Amino acid sequence: MSKKYKIGFLPGDGIGVDVLEASKAILDIADFNAEYIPLDIGFKIFESEGDALPSRTVEALKNCDAALFGAITSKPRTDPSVQKVEQEFGVTYRSPIVRLRQVFDLYSNMRPSKSYEGNPLNFRKIDGSVPHIDIVTFRENTQGLYSGIEFESLIPELKNIDSFKAFQDRTKATDENIRISCRVFTKEGCDRIIRKAFDYAKTTGRNKVTVVHKANVIRATDGLFLEIAKEIASEYPEVDWWDENIDATAMWLMKRPDEYSVIVSSNMFGDIITDQAAMLSGGLGFAASASTSEKFGVFEPNHGSAPKYAGQNKVNPIAAIKSIALMWEWLGETNLSEKLENSIAENVKTGKIRTYDMGGTSSTTDVANDIARIFGEK
Ligand code: IPM
Ligand code: MG
Repeated sequence: MSKKYKIGFLPGDGIGVDVLEASKAILDIADFNAEYIPLDIGFKIFESEGDALPSRTVEALKNCDAALFGAITSKPRTDPSVQKVEQEFGVTYRSPIVRLRQVFDLYSNMRPSKSYEGNPLNFRKIDGSVPHIDIVTFRENTQGLYSGIEFESLIPELKNIDSFKAFQDRTKATDENIRISCRVFTKEGCDRIIRKAFDYAKTTGRNKVTVVHKANVIRATDGLFLEIAKEIASEYPEVDWWDENIDATAMWLMKRPDEYSVIVSSNMFGDIITDQAAMLSGGLGFAASASTSEKFGVFEPNHGSAPKYAGQNKVNPIAAIKSIALMWEWLGETNLSEKLENSIAENVKTGKIRTYDMGGTSSTTDVANDIARIFGEK
């Protein structure tokens, strides 16, 4: 008897529920021995109990091998519904998915962007050609600008720092008119994500890595990132690598996307370029990610909760289904993972059962059921 896995099941808000429920069609027929544990996360839970990531969810996940996550609604702090709950419970809202990544130290956010044959949404260059896209981005997932170290006014310690004094002289801002979001990197944090990308490039035979930063301006943090990248690259002589400033990457991704293979970057830059990379291969309906440590992983579509489509059985479930393939790959169930990838490719290529984003009229469940049918016949 194969190992019985424990998988946390976290649909969250909005279309997170639609796509995860539909994806069950694949889980139901796969030869994957698992118990699925439904858990609470998201804005609905925040509204009812003042915590978008209740501790019971965190505790339950500690006993799981991996988790599947749908989507959550994140609202700005000025939104009346956020303020109401914050006042009622005396709390401050923070994105539960960002917290989840930090609590479980899921430092590696791996995001493939691969074009499928026959997808009408595949990126077209200005000259009309359709390049084959196969990019895997490793986004640092626990540090940087998303560390949550923020200040609502000037902190007194900064008054003694020369560069800060010069800033305040120049801007004439009063202490109360200043907001600070800290971009914090550690050497270990840079080391492990860059190493992950180089390891992946080597073991998959891709042998190509682009290190994306802005070291010419953000010298302390991205300077460190680049320095460590150079050290690590010297340990991988077989891997061809180069580095780029983030703004250049944004441009080159549009111009020559087929030249990229593995990309590694910090948290916010990785967040931005993975949405851009997603648009090269079908949009957010196709973009999934694996947030992992060595011990635990959360697998999710990159899209948000799209409240206006919630509960309509309308949106594309492929990103959520791809996150199942990523989970299987990470768990070492490579046969299942490859079979599912091939089933998605066949559904897209056949082109009969498609959601509206691809020009079709089929529903979320129609597409998931079709992929499950193909998977079952393989
Ligand atoms: C993503 C999302 C999240 C992020 C949001 C929902 C906090 O944009 O997974 O890319 O920024 O990481
Ligand atoms: Mg994002």
